[in-house]
Amino acid sequence: MDKINLDTIDLSQNPPAEEPGRQYYFMAKCRKYTETFEKKNGHRPAFFIQTFGCQMNARDSEKIRGILTVIGFEEAVSEETADFILYNTCTVRENANLKVYGRLGKLKHRKEQGQELMVALCGCMMQEPEVVEKLKTSYRFIDIIFGTHNIFKLAELLDSCLAQKELSKHEMIIDIWKDTDLIVEDLPDSRKYPFKSGVNIMFGCNNFCSYCIVPYVRGRERSRQPEDIIREIRRQVKDGVKEVMLLGQNVNSYGKNLEQPITFAGLLRQVEKIEGLERIRFMTSHPKDLSDELIEVMANSKKICRHLHLPVQSGSSRLLKIMNRHYTKEQYLQLVEKLRNAMPDIALTSDIIVGFPGETEEDFEETLDLVRRVGYSSAFTFIYSKRTGTPAAAMKEQVPEDVVKERFDRLLNAVQEQASAFAKKAEGTIREVLVEEVNSHDPSLVTGRLGNNMLVHFPGCAAEVGKLVTVKLEECKGFYYYGHELTGV
Ligand code: 5AD
Ligand code: SF4
Repeated sequence: MDKINLDTIDLSQNPPAEEPGRQYYFMAKCRKYTETFEKKNGHRPAFFIQTFGCQMNARDSEKIRGILTVIGFEEAVSEETADFILYNTCTVRENANLKVYGRLGKLKHRKEQGQELMVALCGCMMQEPEVVEKLKTSYRFIDIIFGTHNIFKLAELLDSCLAQKELSKHEMIIDIWKDTDLIVEDLPDSRKYPFKSGVNIMFGCNNFCSYCIVPYVRGRERSRQPEDIIREIRRQVKDGVKEVMLLGQNVNSYGKNLEQPITFAGLLRQVEKIEGLERIRFMTSHPKDLSDELIEVMANSKKICRHLHLPVQSGSSRLLKIMNRHYTKEQYLQLVEKLRNAMPDIALTSDIIVGFPGETEEDFEETLDLVRRVGYSSAFTFIYSKRTGTPAAAMKEQVPEDVVKERFDRLLNAVQEQASAFAKKAEGTIREVLVEEVNSHDPSLVTGRLGNNMLVHFPGCAAEVGKLVTVKLEECKGFYYYGHELTGV
């Protein structure tokens, strides 16, 4: 189905029950508000979205941006000048929540000073009932609260909020779903970059790693139909997209719950065939589900980038068991060996947690040993954060803060050592680069990304942004390169 033209919608009728038609109806209705606003103020109302957290949230924010743009909002240059502020929240670690409360404190102050402002909160943090309770009592100025399952409903919720404002009433509109099977296709979106995109292939997670809150706030795994995914990417390629990132909490279990099951490798084979698409990335891969079929498809592909994000979380088999990860250190290392045998130049990245309950010095040294043996090109390192409701939160042996801090610094050093050794190996080689932007510090340079996800800066101009060019990596600077473009190679 193609996206609907709002001008063809008859607002004298009741809203349709079916999606996405229902949401287009409410977008058309909300557009009346932005038109009236513009007549009164001489400019359209402006929105500002702050996205916290992961790529999934970043993609959800693109969908929010798309809906608001269709409604007739424009993007504000800053939070201070916005008429509608949205926070798309994350709750994977405690400090993500604290950041949101800090920002809300500032908004409260603005509201108390009498500023006209609409405020909406959505995302993972809203799926926690105690958070919503706290917002209801301490941040009563918030207009709309919705969760991770009903982002698509923004126009409908905004319409209810505007109807209240018409009547000079203020009651928080709260719409949180615990879980859902619903996937609404063909809604608007608005990409940050015209030449690269993120595409959800699945939602939710069934893994219940013992430290992680994601399965509780994002619900059970649901895969999109392969034909919907392919159609979306084809459309994007027509609009100029060269690189796609397929997104899911665990892409390796893609397709298992579909009526006609398909593997992730099977989906990749179809994506590979899309003409005009040059690069394919994906994340995240759970090591327990990474198949030989996937390695084979990657190794034989000209489009799939030589980069795999393969979070290990810990190098201790003892802790991996308690974390409910379903692999041992040895199995992970064997997987790495298989990947390196098939693709010697592949860049591997990881997520690693320090200070999981009961982590001993020996456990931690296993992690350091694993990091040195894998040779990651980079890794996100996290201090364990206790998340209420997860099994790990009830584990008694929390590691003292000073011990965690000291281990964290040692881990960071080990990761950085490996990352610069990995980067150094490519110095002097010739690589294909997708140019992403003009360098903000030195406008005579452009910055692009290699297939393995590393950055390179080289002399160039704005006209090259979005193009694939060939570059010699002259000098390795630890985690990025300086290079020069080669023509006619
Ligand atoms: N504490 C610290 N890190 C966590 N992650 C998930 N839950 C927690 C937690 N409670 C990390 C994992 C995951 C990444 C997205 O966030 O490493 O892979
Ligand atoms: Fe969290 Fe584990 Fe699911 Fe990743 S796979 S989102 S770490 S539960």
